[in-house]
Amino acid sequence: MAWQRKDLLGLADLSADETETLLRSALSFKDVFQRSVRKFPTLRGKTVVNLFYEPSTRTRSSFEIAGKWLSADVINVTVSNSSVVKGESLKDTAKTLEAMGVDAIILRHSVAGTPHYLARCCRPAIINAGDGAHEHPTQALLDLLTLKERWASFQEKQVLVIGDIRHSRVAKSNIYGLRRLGAKVAVCGPATLIPPGLEHLGVKVVERLDDAVLESADLIYVLRIQRERQEEGLFPSLREYSHLFGLNAARMERTKPEVIVMHPGPANLGVEITTEIAYSKASSIQEQVTNGVAVRMAVLYHLVGGGRQSVDLD
Ligand code: CP
Repeated sequence: MAWQRKDLLGLADLSADETETLLRSALSFKDVFQRSVRKFPTLRGKTVVNLFYEPSTRTRSSFEIAGKWLSADVINVTVSNSSVVKGESLKDTAKTLEAMGVDAIILRHSVAGTPHYLARCCRPAIINAGDGAHEHPTQALLDLLTLKERWASFQEKQVLVIGDIRHSRVAKSNIYGLRRLGAKVAVCGPATLIPPGLEHLGVKVVERLDDAVLESADLIYVLRIQRERQEEGLFPSLREYSHLFGLNAARMERTKPEVIVMHPGPANLGVEITTEIAYSKASSIQEQVTNGVAVRMAVLYHLVGGGRQSVDLD
C-alpha cells in the first residue's frame, strides 16, 4: 500500500496494512546491514530534528543513525541547552524549527498528547518517540519486527507482558500492535500498576505470575520498573517486586523451550529481570536494539521520503 500519513503518533489507529508496510520496509533495510557501506541517497536534502525533552539512549541514537544512513541531515536539539530554558513553549520551538525548513521533528516528551498537538499545528512530519505514559510507536514496531523474524504468523501466539502497565507507553503501543496482528495478550503486575479498561482491548489481566501463565507464553515481555514512580508507593519495595514479578531462572524453567524474552531497555538488572536471563539465548534484547535502526529507517523513508511503494535498495 502507498503511505498516506504525514505523522506517526501511535499504533492505536495504525491499521494492520500500515503496520505490515512499515515492517516489510524495515526488513528490506535490515537486509543491507551487513554491507560495508550502509548509506543510501533516499533522504538527501531532507532535514530531521531529534527534539527530546526526556533522556534517551536507544531511540535518539537509532533515529540519528537511521537518518544518517538515509543521507538526511540530522540535528539533535539538546533541550537543556536550548531556548526552552528561557521559557520558550513547545509550539514556539517547533514553529522555529519549521521556519528553518525542517522536514520532520522526532519528539519525546513527558506529557501525553504533545506529538498529536504539534501534528495539528506544524507542517513537518511529527514522529512520536514516546509521549508520557501514552505511546511509543517505534519501540512497538521494532518489537513486532523482531517477532516477525521469528514467527510465521502472530495469530494465536500468546504474549505475556509483566510489570508496570499503567505507566508504560511501550506496553500500550505493543498491546495495540500485537492485538491488531492477531496475538493474544495477557498482562501481569501489581494491581496498583494495572490500568482499568484493558479488557476492552482484548487483554487478559493475571494477578500472579504463579497462576500458570508462564507455561503458555510464546513471548515474555518484561517492562522496566520505573524507579521514579516508587515515591508514589505503588508497590512496597524493589525487593518484593523482584520476588513477586521478577523474571528469574526458576520462573524460566516453567516456560516453553522456544519462549522469547524481550525488554525495551534500559533494564534494571536484578530487579525485573536477572542479568543471566537478559543475556541468555532466550533474550532478544540486542536484536531489538538492532531492529530499532531498521524500523526507524522505514519510518523516515515513508514519512520524509515520500512513501514510494516498495524499498529499492539497489
Ligand atoms: N526503549 C527506549 O525507549 O529506550 P531509550 O529511553 O534509551 O530511548
